[in-house]
Parts: sequence; C-alpha cells; structure tokens
Amino acid sequence: MAPGTDLAELARDAAGCTKCPLSAHRTQVVFGVGDPHADLMFVGEAPGRDEDLQGEPFVGRSGKLLDRLVLEELGVDRSRFYIANVVKCRPPDNRDPKPDEIAACRPYLEAQLASIAPTVVITLGNFATKLLLETDLGITKVRGQAYPMDGWQLVPTYHPAAALRSGGVVLAEMRADLIRAKQLLGWHS
Ligand code: URA
Ligand code: SF4
Repeated sequence: MAPGTDLAELARDAAGCTKCPLSAHRTQVVFGVGDPHADLMFVGEAPGRDEDLQGEPFVGRSGKLLDRLVLEELGVDRSRFYIANVVKCRPPDNRDPKPDEIAACRPYLEAQLASIAPTVVITLGNFATKLLLETDLGITKVRGQAYPMDGWQLVPTYHPAAALRSGGVVLAEMRADLIRAKQLLGWHS
C-alpha cells in the first residue's frame, strides 16, 4: 500500500468484508477513526459491544479512560491521533480474537499503517503488541521501552481495560508509556 492511500477507500472496502467468521456476528465493521495523517496511532484489540453499535473504536469505558489519559499526558484529543484495532469486527461475547481471524484482518491494519505513516504507534495490550512486535512475550515483559520498526517506533503499553481492572501501578505505567511516546514525537507541553 502506497503512503497516502485513501483511508476512506480502505474503509469502504472493509465495510463489506467477509474474510473471516467474525463477519457473521457484527453489526458493522469498526475500521478506525482520527487524523488520516496522524503522527500518533493507537492499536487496540477488537471492538466490544459499544464499538460494534457505534462503529467507532474505544467508545466504551476503556475508551473513556484512554481519552482521559491521552488528554492529560499528551494534551490532545482524537482529532490529533488515529485509533484502530487488530480485528475490525466484534468477536461474539467479547471472546479473544482467534489466530486465523487476526491473520485475515491483518492486511487492513498494515494498510492503515502504510497510509497514515505515523511516527509512533502505541499498542494497547497483548494482541496488538504481539502482532506488531512479532513477539510471544507478554506486555508486562516488553513495555517500558520503545522499539524501532520500519520507519516508526512502537511503544507497547497495557490495554486500558487492564488499568480499569487493576488501577494503581498499571495506570502509572500507562502514563509513563504515554510520556515516552510524547518524547519520541517531540511534543512539548
Ligand atoms: N477494546 C479494544 O481493544 N478496542 C476497542 O475498540 C474497544 C475496547
Ligand atoms: Fe474482515 Fe477483519 Fe471483519 Fe474478519 S474481522 S470479517 S477480516 S474486517
């Protein structure tokens, strides 16, 4: 996919996708939202119920926490970044996405990365981190540093649902990861 390939066109392609069994359960494809030329991109796991109904990633409780943390640590809202998931359709009963579903959906994420061409990608939780970092290590092991990729930096952090569950230390480490991303972006407050 060439840099600058129209994201809206990709989204139109994805809207009718039946490449994996998740297509049978969704209300709609949740492709991604935000600035199509963002320097910063977030990648989550999969749409949940709220996202499936509203058609936008991270609009439920996890998303509200994420938006708040990003505003507090980076000083920006969704007009300044792009946000998407590893799989674009909601798994039934919020089960984990399966390897074949992740593989089937991966070209959309790769196309989003190529089109947006961000400088920093923050992966939220194990699914996005394992996929993009091509590692089997868990998020707790790999977070705390940035990884240079092909023209961009990967900053792994926890999924906000983990911070909702555990609070305290996880939340503090998420904030530290966001500050790491801010430094890489050269954003100053
Ligand atoms: N969790 C995710 O990983 N993605 C969403 O869009 C919502 C919740
Ligand atoms: Fe297509 Fe991805 Fe939805 Fe599967 S999850 S149907 S590959 S858009």
